Amino acid sequence: MEDCIRERAIGVFDSGVGGLTVLRELLKVLPHEKFIYFGDTARVPYGSKSRETVVRYSIENSIFLLEKNIKLLIVACNTASSVAVEKLKQLFNVPVIGVIRPGAYAAVSATRTKRIAVMATKATIQSQAYPNAISELLPDAQIFSLACPLLVPLIEEKMGEHPAMDSILQEYMIQVKNHRPDTLLLGCTHYPLIKEEIRKIFGHSLNIVDSASTVASEASYLLKKMHLSADGYEECEQLQFFVSDDPEKFKEIGEYFLGFPISEVNRPLLFQEAMPVYS
Ligand code: DGL
Repeated sequence: MEDCIRERAIGVFDSGVGGLTVLRELLKVLPHEKFIYFGDTARVPYGSKSRETVVRYSIENSIFLLEKNIKLLIVACNTASSVAVEKLKQLFNVPVIGVIRPGAYAAVSATRTKRIAVMATKATIQSQAYPNAISELLPDAQIFSLACPLLVPLIEEKMGEHPAMDSILQEYMIQVKNHRPDTLLLGCTHYPLIKEEIRKIFGHSLNIVDSASTVASEASYLLKKMHLSADGYEECEQLQFFVSDDPEKFKEIGEYFLGFPISEVNRPLLFQEAMPVYS
């Protein structure tokens, strides 16, 4: 049967489960598309690793998805997007979308005072990717960036509503408040899950935005522009999940991020076999 490029899947990768918050939005905006999600659960977190390592992991993850014949690659991980998207665009022959520009766009669209705060992992903050992308869109923006390394582990432990989360957030938010932003950009896949906790600290005067819905709009726009949108819903699996570590653990926590149960998760052989030298 001839392969129709429009019917191919969209590949999405993240360092682990966090990218499921992005996939959730993609599914809302692109209900007729098929998705292959890869979570690099064996090597998470990326947020505390060096640029070189995250770029290398991102290339490997992309090759895994490209071998599945995807038509579009979405880098759902903020850390990977902040350091690797340009390299992936250079290396591969599929359109690549990262979350940085869509996140910057969401923040710039929301701000009135041009005072924007960005929360993200250490590696994302060090890369300066968000301030650079925001300044490109809004050159006189006043940007305050804050690395929040304690949030990812707590969220993965489903401790979003725990008092420990509240005190850590209070600590981080004192620094954010000092900058007097009118917009806070959640620059990490996990943070949308604690949006309400952040909202409790700031009240409704602050715009809280993230990349997920703007990434989905960008993907939809790009697919239409390139005549790559799927024609309609086919009788086939819409979602496939692959991980580099324990599938059961991913399933269990994945539901919390995705909002609905995940039926099947595969760990490819590549991530199961020991290197010959160790076996
Ligand atoms: N997915 C990562 C991000 O959005 C957070 C988890 C990690 O550090 O790998 O930056």
